[in-house]
Amino acid sequence: MITIDGPTGSGKSTVGRLLAKRLRYHYLDTGAMYRAVGLAIWRAGTELQNKEEVARRCTSLDIKFIHKGDSTKICIGDEDVTKAIREPLMDLMASNVSALDIVRKAMIRLQRKIGSQGSLVAEGRDMGTVVFPEANHKFYLDASLEVRVDRRFQERQEKGESISRKKVKEDLIERDYQDMNRRLSPLKPAKDAEIIDTTQLNPHQVVERIMRKMKQRGRRTGIPKRSISSTK
Ligand code: DC
Repeated sequence: MITIDGPTGSGKSTVGRLLAKRLRYHYLDTGAMYRAVGLAIWRAGTELQNKEEVARRCTSLDIKFIHKGDSTKICIGDEDVTKAIREPLMDLMASNVSALDIVRKAMIRLQRKIGSQGSLVAEGRDMGTVVFPEANHKFYLDASLEVRVDRRFQERQEKGESISRKKVKEDLIERDYQDMNRRLSPLKPAKDAEIIDTTQLNPHQVVERIMRKMKQRGRRTGIPKRSISSTK
């Protein structure tokens, strides 16, 4: 089990995918799960204050990851929501629902179930601190605010969205604040996580650094080296 946590724009999704591919591990994007819940709650018009209704919707939500070749789809029931959950509105919806106790409990249960099925690179905000505290390798990626905003802005532009850099920055600051200051599972590095500043690094360089750290750690902890190098 490898966990990667960090704020928006730290590069954790790209790095997590590359790393999982290199190691031939499964990749779990837990942000996508909160986005799927946010989408379902938003579509239903459920008020977040209506705890009972949120609980009912969340626990009956059939979230599935379907892997095909290199790509992974996320579905609610039979519906492919991979694109819909990336709409800008879902950034904040996901962050809002992720602060609710009932939502976190349901997602953590599902994440641990997926984690019990095999080798995993699990990416999110609380993977190393709460969901998989026993993980062999924990990483926390971070980068300067300006670089994170640039990455996010570029992503948005590539999708053809007309949004200003200023708005991207405001949204990112708001989401950082929510994710880092909520009562439940706030975003922070696990005590035993390796912190990597990705400001000056591209995703491949980050993967190299992670591989190196795991080899060093493997030697220190006596974890057989082949457990991380044979799948290269
Ligand atoms: O990584 P992302 O932007 O897709 O995540 C969307 C939101 O979901 C993020 O603002 C916080 C929340 N989240 C969380 O609370 N815990 C996780 N493990 C993953 C995401």
